[in-house]
Amino acid sequence: MKPILTEKYRPHFHFSPLGKWLNDPNGMVFFNGEYHLFYQHHPFSTIWGPMHWGHAVSKDLIHWEHLPVALHPDEHGAIFSGSAVVDWDNTTGFFDDQPGLVAIYTSHDSYPDSERPRQRQCIAYSKDNGRSWTKYSGNPVLIDETKTDYRDPKVFWHSETKHWIMVLATGQSVTIYKSINLINWQFASEFGEGSHAGFWECPDLFPLKVDGDKVKWVMLVSLGDTGEHAEGSWTQYFIGDFDGETFINDHDKETVLWLDYGRDNYAGVSWSDMPSSDGRRIYIGWMSNWRYANQVPTKEWRGVMTIPRELSLASSADGVRIIQKPVSEARVLRKRSNTFKDKLLTPDQPLSIPLESTLLELNLEVEFQDASIAELTIQHSDSEKTVIRYDAEAEILSADRTLSGESDFSSSFPAVQAAPLKMKKNGVRLQLLLDASSIELFGNDGECAITSLVFPSSEKSELHLAASGGSIKVKSFELHELSSIWNK
Ligand code: FRU
Repeated sequence: MKPILTEKYRPHFHFSPLGKWLNDPNGMVFFNGEYHLFYQHHPFSTIWGPMHWGHAVSKDLIHWEHLPVALHPDEHGAIFSGSAVVDWDNTTGFFDDQPGLVAIYTSHDSYPDSERPRQRQCIAYSKDNGRSWTKYSGNPVLIDETKTDYRDPKVFWHSETKHWIMVLATGQSVTIYKSINLINWQFASEFGEGSHAGFWECPDLFPLKVDGDKVKWVMLVSLGDTGEHAEGSWTQYFIGDFDGETFINDHDKETVLWLDYGRDNYAGVSWSDMPSSDGRRIYIGWMSNWRYANQVPTKEWRGVMTIPRELSLASSADGVRIIQKPVSEARVLRKRSNTFKDKLLTPDQPLSIPLESTLLELNLEVEFQDASIAELTIQHSDSEKTVIRYDAEAEILSADRTLSGESDFSSSFPAVQAAPLKMKKNGVRLQLLLDASSIELFGNDGECAITSLVFPSSEKSELHLAASGGSIKVKSFELHELSSIWNK
């Protein structure tokens, strides 16, 4: 199945629904050779409404097969965000001779006699690789009637303590529960440090190696848009330790680490059950922002995911930080390439490259000689441009979308999105992915990310690279035209 490809702004190598509304990625799990991606979906509208779980599968994280809706609202309410796991040892008793999938999600409804929403955790299982689902007859499996915001369970198997662990967003904290069978859950601990400029949503918790074999635990927490944070809904993360009960943050309570400095990476979580021979932690986020998610100017569909990204950890002078890079599978998209090395750019000799395609990957390494600023402009048309700038004095990378195209649907959309990025050997490396309505920018091989929607009107564009205040040396320039996943 293909969407109508003449649709304006239709993404060509990012996952978007065939039609109608999409928000958070849900239930990502790898099983029997397939990556499953479920997602918050309203199959009858391009506006958020009663949530279902849409479904797609992929063998390479890039090309997706769209499948029918997996979970429909029921007597417990709409199907909010959650996760899925493989029950390898049949801890639930749902399976016979083969392991199967269990989805753990939030049912959202209203009390019969009040307007106050009620959020409870439910489970469903599948014996046929996620193609059909049976809701557990004893649902809901986890209730706390004292809490209004009680949602987005992310579950994983903790082999050291032989328990399932659930991290759940509980207002302004993450509550951790444990279970031996995914059905009976026991409170373990509560964590609530970091930023509170928004209600907490969509947590994740997973281990990653750093500095050789040392293991650190990463907690992701999305922060909803309450108007307090200028950028709208953003994602923070914590680095620390986890013993099967309690997460201990390495930083003091006030330190806030941001996953992405662009406005459009929200509610992202990671894939479960990656084969141990692979060992990667793969993440995908929803490329939008609650500030304007319901207003973005697409017509037949609304909502798109980031490129799947591999997350890892690296030690820096400031401490351990997340590194994120597009998965290596994305290289299958590369078609024609234009590369060169060691070119000097002075302020009166910028570089201009006409572009045949609006689907691009650019890998660029620049060295600052005496310039203070390097500027990469994607000229979408005479009047539309997205400007990526590295300020070598301030050590700030930014993406300016104020003139990038349609933006009057929300006053929060036109923006300069800026991220701190330290120079390395007097230079920086940038990776840019450009799709029909988004840019993803990674600094110094994933030390920082800026993910941003853009809505340019044009189909053809031009790239300019310029130095100001002195010259820069383009140490390497690698431009790839990318193919559309719909053409497969
Ligand atoms: C995050 C979120 C979740 C919730 C879902 C509803 O974007 O608000 O907390 O489960 O979206 O669609």
